Amino acid sequence: MDFKDYITVVENYPKEGIRFKDITTLMQNGKVYKKAINDMTAFASNQNIDVVVGPEARGFVVGCPIAYSLGKGFVPVRKKGKLPRETVDVEYGLEYGKDSLSIHKDAILPGQNVLITDDLLATGGTVNATVKLVEDLGGKVAGLAFMIELKYLNGRKNLDQYNIYSLVEFD
Ligand code: PRP
Repeated sequence: MDFKDYITVVENYPKEGIRFKDITTLMQNGKVYKKAINDMTAFASNQNIDVVVGPEARGFVVGCPIAYSLGKGFVPVRKKGKLPRETVDVEYGLEYGKDSLSIHKDAILPGQNVLITDDLLATGGTVNATVKLVEDLGGKVAGLAFMIELKYLNGRKNLDQYNIYSLVEFD
């Protein structure tokens, strides 16, 4: 099965010149979604994972089923102000300006092996911020798993020391 056949490339969204990779067409096909999650889970099952972490919103639709398959917990990383209890926060750069991500302070125990998941590795800004949150809490990043990697944006450039898996690559 070629997962690319189920990802819709939308021209000029959300703005001129961007070729948006829409995973909703993959997810709405039960067989394909299941195979994608199974393949990502297979990568994770060799990493001795204690907990899965994913940033909102599309990191949830990838990370939650992987956590469920592994029989492990899922920890959400959210935009600032969305989590109800004490958090640690990190600012990260966007194309224009900055945003902030948060994680509950008690969500990861020191020394836990963490799998970070998201639908997409683009510039790497989101995953680098998520890695920082996990490591600030004392977690060990055991792997990074993405549905899609945009190779031309070189999101891996600051992630040399991590074990990275991507289901589909776009050049
Ligand atoms: C998208 C995507 C990744 C991130 C990848 O999320 O789901 O989380 O961008 O880009 P990067 O590698 O350049 O950081 P977005 O911020 O659009 O949030 P959403 O999932 O809530 O739509």
